[in-house]
Amino acid sequence: METGYDYVAGLPVTLMNGIWFIMSCLLGLAYLVNHVIKPDERNWLGILAKYLMQYGKAKPVPQPTDVPKRFFVHFYILAVIYNLVCLVTLFGLCQNWWSHNWIANVFFLHDTNQQTGDQLSVIMVMVLLTIHTSKRLYECLFVSVFSKNAKMTPIHYLWGFVYYLLIPPTLIAECLPLHKLPNGSFQVRHYIAIVGFCIASYIHHNSHVILANLRKKGGCKQDSHGIPQKGMFEYVSCPHYFAEVLIYLFTAIIIFPQCHSWLALLAYNTVVHANMAMISHAWYKETFSSYPPKRKAFFPHLL
Ligand SMILES: NC(=O)c1ccc[n+]([C@@H]2O[C@H](COP(=O)([O-])OP(=O)(O)OC[C@H]3O[C@@H](n4cnc5c(N)ncnc54)[C@H](OP(=O)(O)O)[C@@H]3O)[C@@H](O)[C@H]2O)c1
Repeated sequence: METGYDYVAGLPVTLMNGIWFIMSCLLGLAYLVNHVIKPDERNWLGILAKYLMQYGKAKPVPQPTDVPKRFFVHFYILAVIYNLVCLVTLFGLCQNWWSHNWIANVFFLHDTNQQTGDQLSVIMVMVLLTIHTSKRLYECLFVSVFSKNAKMTPIHYLWGFVYYLLIPPTLIAECLPLHKLPNGSFQVRHYIAIVGFCIASYIHHNSHVILANLRKKGGCKQDSHGIPQKGMFEYVSCPHYFAEVLIYLFTAIIIFPQCHSWLALLAYNTVVHANMAMISHAWYKETFSSYPPKRKAFFPHLL
């Protein structure tokens, strides 16, 4: 296929795909070190892998440079504003209202000579992303009860911003110029994806409500942690992480035929959430002797 990009394993060589690839490899490695190799606590590899992955309740030793975990809200303030600006930009480009594509300029994207896909799918995924980040902002502001002690490293904090900036350019990298794409029409995959997105968003939100209610309704004190019950917590320790991956999976169903790069983002999301879930699950089992033994970490009945 003749395009403005070089291709490796079916994926265009873009800044974003390079970053998703490097991050997935780093986190995959951290997963191996933390959960398979399990080196001595004093081994530098173990210390590095733990530093990269541990935050929140599973972060054992606070550092002076750590940032409060409630600063998560900053990511979502940025992401909601940014996604709305991207949505308007992309819609205007599809309609040929303007031709200047600042997203392409900033992230070194090219026009493709042979396009796939349609405008409807691009705009639909951008709308779903905006809904998802708005929901997260609402949860951070009005649902979640953050503890004073929960921290993240400055690397986590900085990466949180970069992560959300990279998503819209990943979405459009393979379908520029947008005004030349066909309009598109609703297909079965769009309906499946919307229903799936709504169910996954419900599981995600409900899990955050259950966690917050532990502190609001006396299941544990404001700054401590309890054992979450009910909902998908009956099956896994981190249903919100599982649901977040499902959210990206359902957006992939919409966009995959035209944007293979979305799979790189999905792979990154799966690796990072599986990692965090395993760490959280191990922390629950170490902390609570009465922790439900049949509960898995991330994927019901499997992992
Ligand atoms: N896409 C990505 O790369 C990415 C990365 C990270 C997170 N996320 C998303 O962001 C969302 C939040 O992630 P997170 O890592 O902050 O989740 P989390 O550690 O489970 O925390 C969520 C909220 O629940 C509280 N909490 C956690 N466990 C609790 C327990 N046992 N008892 C009482 N309260 C508890 C936390 O309080 P504390 O203040 O004590 O922590 C926090 O307020 C997730 O849904 C995730 O999908 C996305």
